Amino acid sequence: MLKPNQKSKISKKSQVEKMFDTISFEYDFLNGIMTFNSHKRWKKNILNIAKKLKPKNALDIATGTADIAIDIGSIPNCQVVGIDVSQKMLNVGRKKIKKMKLDESVRLETGDAENLNFKDNYFDLVTIGFGVRNFQDLEMGLKESFRVLNKDGTLIILETSLPENIIMKLFYSIFTRTYIPIMARIFSKDKSAYNYLLNSAELFPSGTKFCNILKAVGFADILIKPKLFGSSTIYVCKKQ
Ligand SMILES: C[S@@+](CC[C@H](N)C(=O)[O-])C[C@H]1O[C@@H](n2cnc3c(N)ncnc32)[C@H](O)[C@@H]1O
Repeated sequence: MLKPNQKSKISKKSQVEKMFDTISFEYDFLNGIMTFNSHKRWKKNILNIAKKLKPKNALDIATGTADIAIDIGSIPNCQVVGIDVSQKMLNVGRKKIKKMKLDESVRLETGDAENLNFKDNYFDLVTIGFGVRNFQDLEMGLKESFRVLNKDGTLIILETSLPENIIMKLFYSIFTRTYIPIMARIFSKDKSAYNYLLNSAELFPSGTKFCNILKAVGFADILIKPKLFGSSTIYVCKKQ
């Protein structure tokens, strides 16, 4: 996997944590600008899939500012825990949860996807939004999600991907190499963070490649739902 800075002696995890701490304040705003707010629609897609599963106990990994945790927390009788390595992203999320009076159903904790502090077979649902490509050890992170899920539990992942259609791929490449760096330069405290996010999106195994990784970890019944010409993808799979 790509490291934010390949030459640095600091682990990818510490670099990612620092990077998200630095951009925590602007993250929601820039996420909206860079996806034309599509990320909200994709997160609602996750909520709609989750609602049908009627989960009682859910975990949102790499929860960041807690959008997905908040959505899942709106499902009746569902308790959600959101975990993240970045304290400052969690602090932004905590404010949103308080404002929405969801403290009873959503709680946020510091935690590492690759070493989860939960027992085996514990959750009905695990969600990960734009988190997996930041993991230091992707396979370890997915194995941990598998471990904490109940038998028949569901994992839903939303992650950036590359369009398969050649024209869309070209358009995506031009868009990400022009519009996103310009927006980052204007609005972000750390424009190198957005270079990392772009590069990691291009290198991350998406589509069937990512499905094969999910299968190797043990997940089954994998569904792939490409969004916005395949620039992001929702993966839904089961622990059996
Ligand atoms: C792009 S943000 C996504 C936030 C949110 N899920 C969303 O969809 O908007 C990625 C988040 O993953 C977190 N992260 C990266 N590696 C992690 C790990 N190993 N364990 C937990 N969180 C991690 C980062 O701190 C950051 O908040």
